[in-house]
Amino acid sequence: MEGLQGVFNGDFLPLEDIKISPMSRAYTFADAIYEVVPFIQGRPVALDLHLKRLLKSCKAIDLDIDILRVQREIEKLAQDALTNNTGYVYYQITRGQDRVRNHLYALDLIPETFGYATITKQTTRIQKAKIVQDIRWGRCDIKSTALLGNIMLMNQANFEGANEIIMHRDGLVTEAGSSNVFMIMNRKVITPPKESNILAGITRELLLKHFSQDFELLEEACHIDALAEADVVFLTSSTKGIMAIDQIQDNKYCFNQANSTFVELKTAFNNFLNTAF
Ligand code: PDD
Repeated sequence: MEGLQGVFNGDFLPLEDIKISPMSRAYTFADAIYEVVPFIQGRPVALDLHLKRLLKSCKAIDLDIDILRVQREIEKLAQDALTNNTGYVYYQITRGQDRVRNHLYALDLIPETFGYATITKQTTRIQKAKIVQDIRWGRCDIKSTALLGNIMLMNQANFEGANEIIMHRDGLVTEAGSSNVFMIMNRKVITPPKESNILAGITRELLLKHFSQDFELLEEACHIDALAEADVVFLTSSTKGIMAIDQIQDNKYCFNQANSTFVELKTAFNNFLNTAF
């Protein structure tokens, strides 16, 4: 993180100069929500949708925030670090500092805000996923920093030689470790519906909104057994864009990234990202 600039409670500082109290509820309870806003060549992708989701997360945990100030800080972080670069701004809002640790929060706490910007490099690693039971809580629609379930599952998979997970509840696919899941079957492009206790990913939303005329895009429950019949399984997120999975469960299922529907959709989406924002 050396050299990166951050913003803490409105002050722009090098990351190493930001000091946070251990009584911050971010530290004791992960009582905080966050956003990851992608920038392509310095231009934000769907900033309005990210701010809208940030507000929704704040509302869900009863946090009051000046969203225009947040927007200005995100834009300034990007301006300083991402001009003509591709990367993202991470921005988190925490309930504030407790006097003593208490599950019940005092109503006069002042929310703490923290953000930084960084450049992303696209990975060329082979993407190997493990299918795992989704052990997370029941409100994965809130973009909470409390990601212990994801962290436990992803690291267990990593110890076992996989770099991704595809989670399911009762056999139905929910999402991946930090992205949404799609599968292509006979030219149909299917993703689990939002009701499946998943994050309403903005990349997912952009795909469904702008490509449903040209592709058969469906929000449908996906059983893990269907992964065996999929032509391609791919993930979407603000940092990954569209990224294909190469194999699942130690080569049990392998996918062909040259699949024409996948190539056409990925090309169209990348063109859209480069021209629409
Ligand atoms: N993750 N599902 C989960 C659990 C996620 O953490 C994310 C994003 C997504 C995709 O959402 P979007 O398309 O809006 O980025 C789905 C971010 C990038 C992260 O935590 O780093």
